[in-house]
Amino acid sequence: LNYRVPRTRKEIFDTLVKGLQRLEYRGYDSAGVGVDGPRKNDNGDNVNICLIKKRGKVKALDEELYKNDSIDLDIELDTHFGIAHTRWATHGEPNAVNCHPHRSDKNNEFVVIHNGIITNYKELRKYLKSKGYKFESETDTEVIPKLIKYVYDNSENDYVSFSTLVERVIQQLEGAFALVFKSIHFPGEAVATRRGSPLLIGVRSKYELSMEQIPIQYNSTGESLSLGTTLDGVIYLQDDDITAVAQGKLSLHRMSRCAGEDPNRAIQTLQMELQQIMKGNFKAFMQKEIFEQPESVFNTMRGRICFETNTVVLGGLKDHLKEIRRCRRLILIGCGTSFHAGVATRQILEELTELPVMVELASDFLDRITPVFRDDVCFFISQSGETADTLMTLRYCQGRGALTVGITNTVGSSISRETDCGVHINAGPEIGVASTKAYTSQFVALTMFGLMMSEDRISLQKRRLEIINGLRMLPGLIKEVLTLDDQIKNIASELYQQRSLLVMGRGYNYATCMEGALKIKEITYMHSEGILAGELKHGPLALIDKHMPVIMIIMKDACYTKCHNALQQVTARQGRPIILCCQDDPEITKNAYKTIELPQTVDCLQGVLSVIPLQLMSFHLAVLRGYDVSHQENLFKNVGIF
Ligand code: G6P
Repeated sequence: LNYRVPRTRKEIFDTLVKGLQRLEYRGYDSAGVGVDGPRKNDNGDNVNICLIKKRGKVKALDEELYKNDSIDLDIELDTHFGIAHTRWATHGEPNAVNCHPHRSDKNNEFVVIHNGIITNYKELRKYLKSKGYKFESETDTEVIPKLIKYVYDNSENDYVSFSTLVERVIQQLEGAFALVFKSIHFPGEAVATRRGSPLLIGVRSKYELSMEQIPIQYNSTGESLSLGTTLDGVIYLQDDDITAVAQGKLSLHRMSRCAGEDPNRAIQTLQMELQQIMKGNFKAFMQKEIFEQPESVFNTMRGRICFETNTVVLGGLKDHLKEIRRCRRLILIGCGTSFHAGVATRQILEELTELPVMVELASDFLDRITPVFRDDVCFFISQSGETADTLMTLRYCQGRGALTVGITNTVGSSISRETDCGVHINAGPEIGVASTKAYTSQFVALTMFGLMMSEDRISLQKRRLEIINGLRMLPGLIKEVLTLDDQIKNIASELYQQRSLLVMGRGYNYATCMEGALKIKEITYMHSEGILAGELKHGPLALIDKHMPVIMIIMKDACYTKCHNALQQVTARQGRPIILCCQDDPEITKNAYKTIELPQTVDCLQGVLSVIPLQLMSFHLAVLRGYDVSHQENLFKNVGIF
């Protein structure tokens, strides 16, 4: 809003709430705003930043603004700079206290919103507590407003600008972040910065724009989609950019350690409208989530892998590593897709941890009253963190004294609360009933665990390096696989009237076969089976003839020759295999009815790529068979917290 004209607080809130509503399609668990202007704090004193936070939908936040008597909405404000945030919990359960903005103290001297993950927050929290700071939330973010207040209080004698304070603070942070700061000491100003997490500035101006002084409407979020069409352009910030808005003017500089680097950033025009991005392209959340995988897989790694030093830090596990390294065996437990993520990573975990690894379906594990020992480490893999069988197995293992580790996508869920330690996969809310992006993120999180376990093994360094490099390239390769969507849709249009579909493979891709078949069953109501190619001659071959559709996965890995043998057995029975294979493999292509060619990556990561065509295939088959995938989602999926 034009900074020169006084505005009522209501106008400022409404602008912010409208912005948050545009982000609603992404899913979130709570929302909050912080704006200028007086409000009584917990002690009854007036403070000059007003914070309102609420668990649940943006509508609940909006209602809170109007029903709360302590907020004078009609007050006119000369300085008006508001910040707003929707949160998907990564540390601390979803509630109003854990929601952003976070504050330095009861007087809201400094308030902050944050996207990302601070991996050294425990150390910072301990230090700040020793200096007398009292923490109110369980989040990693809260160390940031406390730290900036600490820096401010300790530089009282010299004048320090808001940007300089922010720069001093971010020098202490590890992990990934996009941050916006506001302070009662700098009314009408705000500072934003990023490292590892995206941050954009939306620009709306009738004036000529220059990087030095831009009269703007300032808006920042993790992605351009929320900015809508009322803006003239966006500025994509780069890591270590520090931007400040003061008296309606924007300035940008590089952190001092990057002095000399060009601080000019182009103002780019948005190509697509939000509506088009949200609804035009996607028919259902499942489809949207399949296409989100370059980003969700990146978010699982964000702030946790250092590609310069080839180190992996999973903050939630690092204090337990010694104990895990000494264990008798690792047991990976889950249901459905989450079980498949365990199957998919078992081999690489065996290789990197040099421990025996069992993979178990939760229900069967309990049925067998499986022996569990104090020196076992049990992993509970669950997107929702609430699946009853998995939760009961967790309690069973805990009762027998094993160390329990959660691999979940839902902070505050029962499994993440009740396990001794764990990893949040940070894939963002998964709303589609058929799990897609959670699977690839579980896959990556478990692989990262293997990398962390093997950091000191000299004999494994070459392999680790190869995998870390593979992870770095993975989001780009996922994007490439997604371009096959039209080709997969065409194949689906040939298959959709069939009664059955077999998916066959082995080694690293056996899990892909089971997961692909599960997706097909779940949403197309077609019979589908994932078959281990090594078992072909022990029964399943009887099903093969020219009428039975078969998808085979044959990648260039240690099982290539064996898979090739399976292919020959299928073609000898007049089977007409559709083959998922690596690009440039003429030997396979000539024996295939059809091929879907995928880019090649490290053998143990290939399953992240090979599952995507099957996710897409199941989606198209469901649509062609006349099922309303969105409707199913609304009926069955329980993400637990809305
Ligand atoms: C249900 C769903 C599956 C899902 C499984 C495990 O059965 O239909 O798609 O994979 O639960 O869910 P979780 O939330 O524990 O990963």
